[in-house]
Amino acid sequence: MKNLFSVYIFSALFLTSCYYDSVEDLYPASECITVNVSFSQDIQPILVNNCLTCHTAASTIGGGINLEGHEAVLFYANSGSLVGSVKQSAPYSAMPKSAAKLEACKILKIESWVQAGSPNN
Ligand code: HEC
Repeated sequence: MKNLFSVYIFSALFLTSCYYDSVEDLYPASECITVNVSFSQDIQPILVNNCLTCHTAASTIGGGINLEGHEAVLFYANSGSLVGSVKQSAPYSAMPKSAAKLEACKILKIESWVQAGSPNN
């Protein structure tokens, strides 16, 4: 009985340790793929995980800037402030606010998506 319990604990630990949250955790920045960047697959998850705590339409802590959905994001992509803020280059406010800069690969993906014309893909 005791042995069976150990096997159970071991399996639980082993199985849960094989979980990864994102492609970036599995592959380092040198493997960063910046061609055919997709809004729904690449850009939106970055925004959901790092930006939407402040930048939803209903939020009162995002300076009135809404980044929910392609149409809303397109406005800031076109103005240059989306790329400028995540690259933290003047005169744009550095984003994500009060948090660490995004990983290099995420910034490259955003930049590449904007350069491709910010498609709704
Ligand atoms: C903790 C809240 C918070 C988070 C998280 C956050 N922002 Fe912001 N953001 C703000 C506020 C507040 C402003 C208004 C300007 C200022 O106060 O700096 C702003 C401004 C901006 C602007 C306009 C910048 C300019 O200079 O015109 C953009 C674009 C932006 N955010 C994008 C993002 C992106 C992209 C992310 C995620 C990578 C993000 N923000 C994460 C709070 C946040």
